[in-house]
Amino acid sequence: MGRDGFFITLEGGDGSGKTTVLGRVAAYLQNRSMPYLITREPGGIEIAEKIRSIILDPAHTAMDARTEALLYAASRSQHLAEVVEPALKKGLTVLCDRFVDSSLVYQGYARGLGIDEVWAINRFAIGNRMPDLTFYLDVDPEVGLARIAANQEREVNRLDLESLAFHQMVREGYQLVVKSYPERIVVLDANRPIHMVEQDIVRILEERVLKGF
Ligand code: TYD
Repeated sequence: MGRDGFFITLEGGDGSGKTTVLGRVAAYLQNRSMPYLITREPGGIEIAEKIRSIILDPAHTAMDARTEALLYAASRSQHLAEVVEPALKKGLTVLCDRFVDSSLVYQGYARGLGIDEVWAINRFAIGNRMPDLTFYLDVDPEVGLARIAANQEREVNRLDLESLAFHQMVREGYQLVVKSYPERIVVLDANRPIHMVEQDIVRILEERVLKGF
């Protein structure tokens, strides 16, 4: 058996352009003839989808922050076991839209549970599996929210309805998490036109693929 495939994750505040960038990374891997899998939690996995629908149901305004954090970790664990691990073991490059950093930031920092506390439950959920590389798209919340408002097709969920102050907290949280993992997380200025962000990403991928990550 060769080594596991590369595990790449994408992080960013709402409206940071993650979806567009994801498509670009896929195109890059395709051009390089690197077999890959693109996924996002809960990733079409029945158990994980059911867990996630409980979290995102707009009727669940009474949900306790710890319950939410545990449900995210549970959904992550299932998606990892059913999708990510088998693909990595087959040698595929796995690109995942949001992973553990989202929980550290949204639940640990923005919801105030504590980054270390949320890391502890996620350690249990993910074992030793951490991304080889994470792109963080850093967007000013006002820019991000304006992009969401301009995108009519995007479904508005409970979390989009949070105040601007919450999104500012999310950004601060990412800035803290990034400091803890300077080797793994690459920060990109996502206030720029998205094609510029894509250019940076392709350049970094090119370097990392040549180095073998
Ligand atoms: P998602 O549906 O992935 O939307 P997008 O990535 O396009 O913004 O995520 C919905 C929300 O879920 C988003 O505001 C971030 C939040 N979230 C958490 O709070 N914790 C987590 O662990 C994850 C994965 C997401």
